[in-house]
Amino acid sequence: MQKRLIVANWKMNPQTSTEAKELLVSVLSDASDFKNIELVICPPFVYFSSISAMIYDLSSKFQVSLGAQNMHWEQKGAFTGEISAQMLKEFGVEYVVEGHSERRWIMGETDEMINKKIKTALKSGLIPILAVGEKERNNFDSSGRHINTADDVVIDQLTRALDGVPVSKIKDVVIAYEPVWAIGTGLADNPDDALSVSLLIRKVISKMTDDKTARAIKILYGGSVNSKNIAEFLKQDGIDGALVGGASIDKDEFTRILEIVSSL
Ligand code: 13P
Repeated sequence: MQKRLIVANWKMNPQTSTEAKELLVSVLSDASDFKNIELVICPPFVYFSSISAMIYDLSSKFQVSLGAQNMHWEQKGAFTGEISAQMLKEFGVEYVVEGHSERRWIMGETDEMINKKIKTALKSGLIPILAVGEKERNNFDSSGRHINTADDVVIDQLTRALDGVPVSKIKDVVIAYEPVWAIGTGLADNPDDALSVSLLIRKVISKMTDDKTARAIKILYGGSVNSKNIAEFLKQDGIDGALVGGASIDKDEFTRILEIVSSL
């Protein structure tokens, strides 16, 4: 069975490097017992130097790697406050999240920027985790009819983000379906609905590449994932893992999630 990919997006947490180390130690202390999991930890950049060695040491026993929450598309230069792919690679970073809704909607990142970042990540040997997802759960037209925005938004974001990416490289992109309304709200999507978006993503990828790539590409669900709902998402044949926010900085809850995934 293919390993489940569990990505911990710590966002702008925790507040000190001591807490970051403690969180990692407690999550990883039982990690070598976890089966069938590939774990990616995405901490704030400033904690890379204190935790990358811990991750590297454990990576011989357990499939765990370091991920970044963002990066710039240029390799170097006058880009105040930004981080390049090369800088990430120096710390052994393997994955980079691109197009997270918090960056799209709070920092004003556009599809064009995300597209450039995906291309740079792939050229630099980093695996992009492309986040896509609609803002509103329900949308209605002027006559009150329900409009399915999820499909339209996901198709549009995927197409723009992958525009011009060499067909042979698309298989290396991980796609995370994260409906914005489900992030940090405690209102996770219905696993069946998440599965139908995942199937839609595979259809779009199939058109861009071929059926084999569409079947092989990894698709994650994200948005209020916790120990109570993770199993329902991952039991869906077509959802290969999860992108976890809030629950990934709660050591007991995250350990529980890993235990559950390892028992599936
Ligand atoms: P929550 O798990 O806190 O809803 O966050 C999801 C997310 O944004 C992960 O990238």
